[in-house]
Amino acid sequence: MSKLALMGGAPVRSEPYPQWPVFDQRDIDAVTNVVKSGRWGGFPYPGPQSKEFIRRFAEMQGGGYPVLMVNGTVTMEVALRAANVGWGDEVLVPAMTFQATAAAPMAAGAIPVIVDVDKENYCMDPKKAEAAITPRTKAILPVHLGAQMADMDAILEIAEKHHLIVVEDCAHAHGAKWRGHGAGTLGHFGSFSLQSSKILTTGEGGVLLCRTQELADRAASIIDCGRPHDPEGKEFTMGANYRMSELHAALGNVALERFPAQAKEREEMLGYLEESLSEIPGVRMLRRDPRHTTRSFYMYGFAIDPDQFGGERLGVVAALEAEGIPAEGGYEAMNRYSLFQPTNSRLAVPSAFPEHFDFSNVSMPEAERGAEHDSIWLDERVFRAGPKGIDDMAAALRKVQDQHEDLAEWVKVQKAAGRRH
Ligand SMILES: Cc1ncc(COP(=O)(O)O)c(C=O)c1O
Repeated sequence: MSKLALMGGAPVRSEPYPQWPVFDQRDIDAVTNVVKSGRWGGFPYPGPQSKEFIRRFAEMQGGGYPVLMVNGTVTMEVALRAANVGWGDEVLVPAMTFQATAAAPMAAGAIPVIVDVDKENYCMDPKKAEAAITPRTKAILPVHLGAQMADMDAILEIAEKHHLIVVEDCAHAHGAKWRGHGAGTLGHFGSFSLQSSKILTTGEGGVLLCRTQELADRAASIIDCGRPHDPEGKEFTMGANYRMSELHAALGNVALERFPAQAKEREEMLGYLEESLSEIPGVRMLRRDPRHTTRSFYMYGFAIDPDQFGGERLGVVAALEAEGIPAEGGYEAMNRYSLFQPTNSRLAVPSAFPEHFDFSNVSMPEAERGAEHDSIWLDERVFRAGPKGIDDMAAALRKVQDQHEDLAEWVKVQKAAGRRH
């Protein structure tokens, strides 16, 4: 076997993985037709492309009253505001996610309360969520992270018991199903990002699925500068312009045509990858929850024992990348994000409630372990290159594990030189 590519050896894979987003003449025609129609913007909401897109999106996801907006962060802010969650209310968020999940409650004026994750799936641990509930808690914001779904049975039970609103962050989970029900249709709201790296994209955008028409009307009003969207046309809200343009929605209508085949391919390849990965020493697979009946995903996470992989998770990520595999380090533990420290933020919420943002004595052991020591994340592109793409990924990881002593040396040199890898 050749040396690690990091150390000058030949990479396992020299051919690039397929690019994202995918496009063809249909996208060009769809945008051209909107341009020619003169109906470019999102006003009045919803325009014909937008209406068609959200109808088909909700149908694909299997339910919910959909509202279209500009991204998958305001979707969560709008959901909370539509449910009257606001100033000083507490919203439970998982400790391992993109910062948007915690920034959205702050934008609504609420306090994100960080809950540690379950090490078996890196999603919010329901027991720890229940333990974090106070009289001020108004909502739970679980994230379906990577190719996992949060334990929605447990979360919905807790929410019902404590009368909490549930907003599912489904930015990674378009098409995923829990007991046959679509992600985002289980809670009061399901929030989806359509940003360009996501598996269903319009370039930028977001869809919010709402449990009732009433919530959807309120959300539609909030994103439409506060104009009434209730049946009687009387309810004004405190709104802003978060409408998506028709040009973007047109891209969504084409993306929906491709989506089922892409999701099926990823899911099939995931099953194949898991068979190979589980045989590599030092690899820990995350839980395969039988209730998660369709696995449609944006990135795939698994865990390693760093001692069997050269000592450093980010060394493994760098080694895989050098071997031609799109791997990532994932997110920081939420309590470590500098953004949420009161001294670093000019947002009102941290300054008004500094006790909630003093993380100096806060420990989220599982999120910290995952984010700093044992999680490895693969890009969805790995799953769209057929069995060869998967074989190359597994071969690269096996190579890195076989040569973990060389990798440990490389990591030592990087550290001595003060380089981050
Ligand atoms: C888990 C998660 N939530 C929310 C978002 C925010 O989506 P957007 O970039 O569309 O605002 C993202 C990604 O960008 C994400 O990964």
